[in-house]
Amino acid sequence: MTDKSRQTVLIVDDQASIRRQLASVLEDDYNVIQASSRKDALIAVGNGGVHVVICDLHMPPNEDDITEGLGVLEGVRKLDSRIPVIVVTGDDSRNAAMEVAKRSAYAPLPKPFTPVEIEIMVRNAAQSHQLHNEIQHLQDELRRLREVESGVVGSTPALKRILDQAKSVAETSATVLITGESGTGKEVLARHIHKISPRADEPFIACNIAALPETLVESELFGHEKGAFTGANSRRQGRFELADKGTLFLDEIGELTPAMQVKLLRVLQERQFERLGGKDLLTVDIRVIAATNRNLEDMVENGQFRADLYYRLNIVNLELPPLRGRQEDIPILASHFVKKAAEKHGKAAPILSQEFESRLSQYRWPGNIRELENVMERAVVISTGKELLVDSLPTKFKELSASTSEAPSDDSRSTLKLINGELPPELSFESAITDYKRELVRQALRECHNSRSEAAQRLKISRQYLHKMINELKVED
Ligand SMILES: Nc1ncnc2c1ncn2[C@@H]1O[C@H](COP(=O)(O)OP(=O)(O)OP(=O)(O)O)[C@@H](O)[C@H]1O
Ligand SMILES: [Mg+2]
Repeated sequence: MTDKSRQTVLIVDDQASIRRQLASVLEDDYNVIQASSRKDALIAVGNGGVHVVICDLHMPPNEDDITEGLGVLEGVRKLDSRIPVIVVTGDDSRNAAMEVAKRSAYAPLPKPFTPVEIEIMVRNAAQSHQLHNEIQHLQDELRRLREVESGVVGSTPALKRILDQAKSVAETSATVLITGESGTGKEVLARHIHKISPRADEPFIACNIAALPETLVESELFGHEKGAFTGANSRRQGRFELADKGTLFLDEIGELTPAMQVKLLRVLQERQFERLGGKDLLTVDIRVIAATNRNLEDMVENGQFRADLYYRLNIVNLELPPLRGRQEDIPILASHFVKKAAEKHGKAAPILSQEFESRLSQYRWPGNIRELENVMERAVVISTGKELLVDSLPTKFKELSASTSEAPSDDSRSTLKLINGELPPELSFESAITDYKRELVRQALRECHNSRSEAAQRLKISRQYLHKMINELKVED
């Protein structure tokens, strides 16, 4: 009978008398099992539950022409590299002992040894095994906690599949391309991958290409030396340097100019670059996660995005589905955001009525999860009772009834219509202008397939101004 509270030592020796001798020393403190050949030893280890192996180096050599003891050492290492193997050496040559030392974390134990020596050796090895297991367990636990904390809420099969893929890719340093409509959680997923990856304790550096003026993208990414250009008063590290050993998140990658696409390609290929105005070649160890809501494949076909860069980025593609394609997640996310908003505003979290949920699931959610988050926060802020009422939803939801599944007309478009018709009594000049601006930006983005550069050209404004309006006017909500 094995005692579960004790660790198990496997003794491997072809001589029964030696096995017995060793067993008698260890039996008081450990479960002891025995094997007389490499084959039996590996079967025992393969069955699991072995914490330490002691084996004789000089057992009769087997057909592979490798000392039987070394064979056990190699075999155990392949099965579970954490199991310590103590190799007992006799009058073998120094070379054989050196071989053991090279392959094992434990020094060989020369014969003859005293019972005390073997006890100490086994005790140290068993403790090390236990520590290894505890560390592994803590690391797993930490990752699990980080996973929960990083807050990718949802349970639809589509999202689960993405999370599974994210988990496998997180283990590696492979470049990831996250695609999906605006507000589907691309940045949330990027942060999640970082948090569950071995790079979690290193920096996560985000860089939104669309938010930067074209002229600054290069120095933001690669940094600059003092005097590299007018206004460069001191040396500055770029995002690539800041992200060293961690993750660099390149958001809205579709907005890179052709010149910057070439430069990025070079860094991705070589992991080396120079600061602007600098001569030193800097090397970095980073994982790149890029994201876009644009269709890069189409952009490649239209000659707007370099094919070679696209292939470099598209090593693993995670495509986030739009919220309307994740119906079952709508109530889950909605309650999540209610709790979050209630906490933020110091209120008790109200519950969602069935009617309320039904309105939510009928809506098309063009702004996806971000829009849902804003709608829920607004509802929590203006509601007073224990239950969220349909009244706390924006007007466009009121047009939805439990029976129709039609998408409502856009708030701001109806504002435009109103301006063409009669002035509504509650009209405010400022808010009508804001609505009008928002609608112009939306329309331009729609016509330009979400390309901010093109939309900015279409509206004859700068990209930065467009970006500012998108944020300030909550165009994507
Ligand atoms: N699965 C999720 N669970 C919880 N919150 C989420 C989830 N996905 C997104 N969110 C929330 O929705 C909002 C939008 O997410 P995020 O910024 O990651 O979207 P995005 O796809 O990067 O949008 P954009 O294309 O506009 O940059 C954030 O406030 C985020 O907290
Ligand atoms: Mg984003």
